[in-house]
Amino acid sequence: MPDPTRHLEDALRAAVAACFGDGFADLDPLVQPANNPKFGDYQANLAMPLAKRLDRKPRDVAEAIVDQLDLGDGYDTPTIAGPGFINLTLQPAALAGFADALSADERLGVPEASDPQTVVIDYSSPNVAKEMHVGHLRSTVIGDALARVLRFQGHTVIAQNHVGDWGTQFGMLIEHLLEQGTVGLGQDDLTALYKQAKQRFDAEPAFAERAKQRVVKLQGGDEQTLAVWKSLVDQSAAYFDAIYERLGIELTPADICGESFYNPMLPGIIDRLVADGAAVESQGALVVFVDGYTDREGEPLPMIVRKSDGGYLYATTDFAATDYRIHTLHGDRLIYVVGAPQRQHFEMLFAAIRKLGWADESVRLDYVPFGSVLGEDGKMFKTRSGETVRLVDLIDEAEQRAATAVKEKNPDLADDASAIGKVVGIGALKYADLSSDRVKDYKFSWDRMLALEGNTAPYLVNAYVRICSIFRKAGLDLAGYTAPVLVNDPNEKALVLRLMQFGPAVESVAESLEPHRLCNYLYDLASAFHKFYEHCPVLRSDVSDDVRASRLVLCRLVATALRQGLNLLGIGVVDRM
Ligand code: ARG
Repeated sequence: MPDPTRHLEDALRAAVAACFGDGFADLDPLVQPANNPKFGDYQANLAMPLAKRLDRKPRDVAEAIVDQLDLGDGYDTPTIAGPGFINLTLQPAALAGFADALSADERLGVPEASDPQTVVIDYSSPNVAKEMHVGHLRSTVIGDALARVLRFQGHTVIAQNHVGDWGTQFGMLIEHLLEQGTVGLGQDDLTALYKQAKQRFDAEPAFAERAKQRVVKLQGGDEQTLAVWKSLVDQSAAYFDAIYERLGIELTPADICGESFYNPMLPGIIDRLVADGAAVESQGALVVFVDGYTDREGEPLPMIVRKSDGGYLYATTDFAATDYRIHTLHGDRLIYVVGAPQRQHFEMLFAAIRKLGWADESVRLDYVPFGSVLGEDGKMFKTRSGETVRLVDLIDEAEQRAATAVKEKNPDLADDASAIGKVVGIGALKYADLSSDRVKDYKFSWDRMLALEGNTAPYLVNAYVRICSIFRKAGLDLAGYTAPVLVNDPNEKALVLRLMQFGPAVESVAESLEPHRLCNYLYDLASAFHKFYEHCPVLRSDVSDDVRASRLVLCRLVATALRQGLNLLGIGVVDRM
């Protein structure tokens, strides 16, 4: 594998055992790429924690380790910096060897999972008859990137689009629809319908009463009611699908497994919660208490699973969904990509499920929260009139703005501007979302996300475009271009070291479920490429054939990493812009 980390870790562990005995097998050698070339290529920070345990000076411990350290061929003699950092440096020939290995590896150093799992990812999950908003954009885009990364690693990913397609709100929607006699609605009408129905529900007690009766009919399986419900669900599903298509999201209608799916299971879930003693009566309702969760008054906080009128709730459905994902879908790892406001719900759900023993230790439960999208004023992202910003409008605007930018920059591409604008505009929209620290709020800014400089999709795509144009100029085919790599210039070296981090960057996303780590990596890679390109001419006539071929391979590797990395984020590339 084109990553020396394991080799270095093993050698360091052996040196520690040789110096200090076998008592430190648990010690993490803390090997990481050095962030400054003056500290070598990799650095190991184990001397500090080890010194603490030995009650000795870190510098002495580092010296003892280095004395015993046998790295084999390909490394300079290790040096020690500061209080006891061990600096490790690869020799040019060894680096060239890693570059050759990357060049021959279709997966660019991303290992295939040795123990492939079934991973169930709950993401997107919008609500029927409601507009998808930027919160759903985040869940959709982040979830899709995670699904792509885990699939690429060889895991079986089961997407679950947990759409809100059930609940008492359908009473008013259906009642209003039937009273209005409207059929064949588009999504705009659906959102309007929701507003009108809600207005009537709040203002007309008689309507509210009929809406409640309608809920009873829906739950009782009344045919006419169910038919209207089904048409609402189908129309929304078609609408969501069109958005996924435009955004290049891998979800299909077959991935929809909405709240209604679990409805028939809920009485059984309640029975089990009661039988296990988890659910108890409280003021007529049935609730689950979870240790350590209290309300503002310090009273135990209930998760209501059945209301006093017998109705089930969001939480009840999530007990059913989680049980289904573990025992029917056989998920080894369950991931829920849902905004940070639902953090407490998921923490309590997971704690309860663990305590009940529905998920044993082998099942990993990951709640993946994300922050809100803010306007440039730092407040919740809204339209000027204070309405929720519709996702479709954002998509339209992203495509248009990017197409205009392409035309302005490169009038020759006028004919292709709209096609390029689609890829780059959508890419910019998604990348802005993915590249910000996931749990933090981020400010939505067209100018920033479409900028050709900075950590943006256009910057990365532009680096890719530049490499395509180098190959066009050379009259060569980028795909599969290969030759031995030579590493002499410090900028070549820096670039190879970066390329070697592609695999670790992808792996860190799978572990942390933070796509911005891959974004940061790609940004650093593109920056290293620009610096390399500035200092290391590729096609200039005074460059020898060997060096040119080697540099072209480096260019090709960067292009592949950018294309593949962006693809894992769900973002496409173009070869001109
Ligand atoms: N439909 C919900 C919403 O819009 C998100 C559902 C998330 N998934 C879940 N299993 N609760 O907020």
